Amino acid sequence: MPANRKPLISGNWKMHHNHFQAIQAIQKLSYALTAEDYASVDVSVHPSFTNLRSVQTVLGADDIPVALGAQDCHPDDEGAFTGEVSAAMLAKLEVAYVIVGHSERRQLFGETDETVNAKARAALRHQMTPIVCVGETLDERRAGQAADRVADQVAGSLAGLDRPAVAGMVIAYEPIWAIGTGETATGADAQEMGAHIRSLVASGWGADAAASVRIQYGGSVKPANAADLMACPDVDGALVGGASLDPDDFARIVNYRLYAI
Ligand code: 13P
Repeated sequence: MPANRKPLISGNWKMHHNHFQAIQAIQKLSYALTAEDYASVDVSVHPSFTNLRSVQTVLGADDIPVALGAQDCHPDDEGAFTGEVSAAMLAKLEVAYVIVGHSERRQLFGETDETVNAKARAALRHQMTPIVCVGETLDERRAGQAADRVADQVAGSLAGLDRPAVAGMVIAYEPIWAIGTGETATGADAQEMGAHIRSLVASGWGADAAASVRIQYGGSVKPANAADLMACPDVDGALVGGASLDPDDFARIVNYRLYAI
């Protein structure tokens, strides 16, 4: 990938780890990562809301250059939305990245592209970087509709955002059939969709935004396949679920370059 796009490897912990486990996980991860890792790759971890403060404290106290991420946010800054957490609250915790529109939120909690767009705007309003997730189902892929489905999601989720916002954001391509299944997209699949997404950004937001937007691949990324996926010119990082829960596995994904053939 071009030098101006530093890869971003993100660990989405989903609804795993209580705050004691989260503290242990971030400490172990920090022991496993080196200055060279941080020089070549940006790293973020995305704990549950209840664990953000604990992880933030460890990162700050030990000066660990891992960015703090959240898994979701509400579009509004405050209000009568019982159980929700706003982007404004996350920004106060020094959260740098917010995942929006993860397929689990789209599928299990009914989020539409419109909601995802509003959440991305909320993150941007508070100087955080949205990681906007897109990806097709197995049925859509089998029906030859994967590219169109992803195009719709990109258009809807990024609608009305200005060029600098899109240039600085992250789009995660996560084919739903590859999430938590052990079924990984091949490097060729990931590259094809990465290039497709970049061309969609080029036509909607211009060549400069397309050149700098970072595109992650997510879906059963493991230490054994990370180097292959990261070798794709249009894959600028990984959004890792299951394998990010084990600090040693996640560290091996972060330093995929040491295992590249
Ligand atoms: P797995 O790595 O467990 O397949 O999860 C991928 C994912 O959904 C990351 O957001």
